[in-house]
Amino acid sequence: MSKTIFITGASSGIGKALAFEMARKGYGLALAARNHESLRKIREEVHRTYSPPVTAIRPLDVTHYNDVYAAFSEMAEETGGIDIVLANAGVGLGEKVGRGDFDKAKQTLEVNLIGAIATMDAAAAYFLQKGKGHIVGISSVAAFRGMPKSSAYCASKAGLAVYMEAMRAELYRKNIDITVLYPGFIDTSLNDMLPSRPFLISVEKGAQIIAKLIEKKVKSSTVPVFPWNIVGRILKILPTAVIARM
Ligand SMILES: NC(=O)c1ccc[n+]([C@@H]2O[C@H](COP(=O)([O-])OP(=O)(O)OC[C@H]3O[C@@H](n4cnc5c(N)ncnc54)[C@H](OP(=O)(O)O)[C@@H]3O)[C@@H](O)[C@H]2O)c1
Repeated sequence: MSKTIFITGASSGIGKALAFEMARKGYGLALAARNHESLRKIREEVHRTYSPPVTAIRPLDVTHYNDVYAAFSEMAEETGGIDIVLANAGVGLGEKVGRGDFDKAKQTLEVNLIGAIATMDAAAAYFLQKGKGHIVGISSVAAFRGMPKSSAYCASKAGLAVYMEAMRAELYRKNIDITVLYPGFIDTSLNDMLPSRPFLISVEKGAQIIAKLIEKKVKSSTVPVFPWNIVGRILKILPTAVIARM
């Protein structure tokens, strides 16, 4: 029987590309994001191209935390069951420290960290009851080192990774797999305004790699694996004088 994946932030970028990639592989889809019109178009196009077993769509703002739990159970019901959850919804607002950007920092943490925790907590409750499941979180290489002009973004992604590490230990031997992914630069509107995007890959390529890592049920990985597995380690030890120029 085919599996179904629940994806937050599925209306654009990585979430959208992954919806297509998973449909191509025969998975059922439960897609959530704030932009319902985009989700409708994606459902239409996915059905025209791949006829996946099921596609449920639902508007969801992950900062409406109670609604995350409601969305999860509604979509589990509508699709006949969810097997994999991808906490992907996120923002990158380019906040600066001490420059009146506190609201941006707060929003970043609310979406990227607390919204993701709500998604994964709803998933864990459901999978504990079901007796199995797979939770995947999209962190970032920004979790490896605090970078200028993205302090809250880096903190949100590092927080997500550590939360998931704790979740893996707490859910040990509960038959729930935990996968933390650390993408480098993937070509989406989240970062297309940046002057430099080293080792950039297309969103389709990113989705293919992410789909493979999900199917392998890896505990954690950079995306793409190389060169970010090496660059990530170097980032951690670079002197602040070098990081400050980035
Ligand atoms: N692109 C990269 O290079 C890269 C690298 C590392 C990590 N990431 C992470 O990958 C994830 C996806 O980013 P992306 O690059 O695909 O960017 P994107 O194209 O801007 O997509 C972000 C998605 O998140 C959704 N979203 C934003 N705020 C939301 C909210 N409050 N509630 C629900 N959904 C919300 C958006 O949908 P709506 O606006 O319709 O809600 C959109 O579908 C993010 O967590 C990002 O931090 C990206």
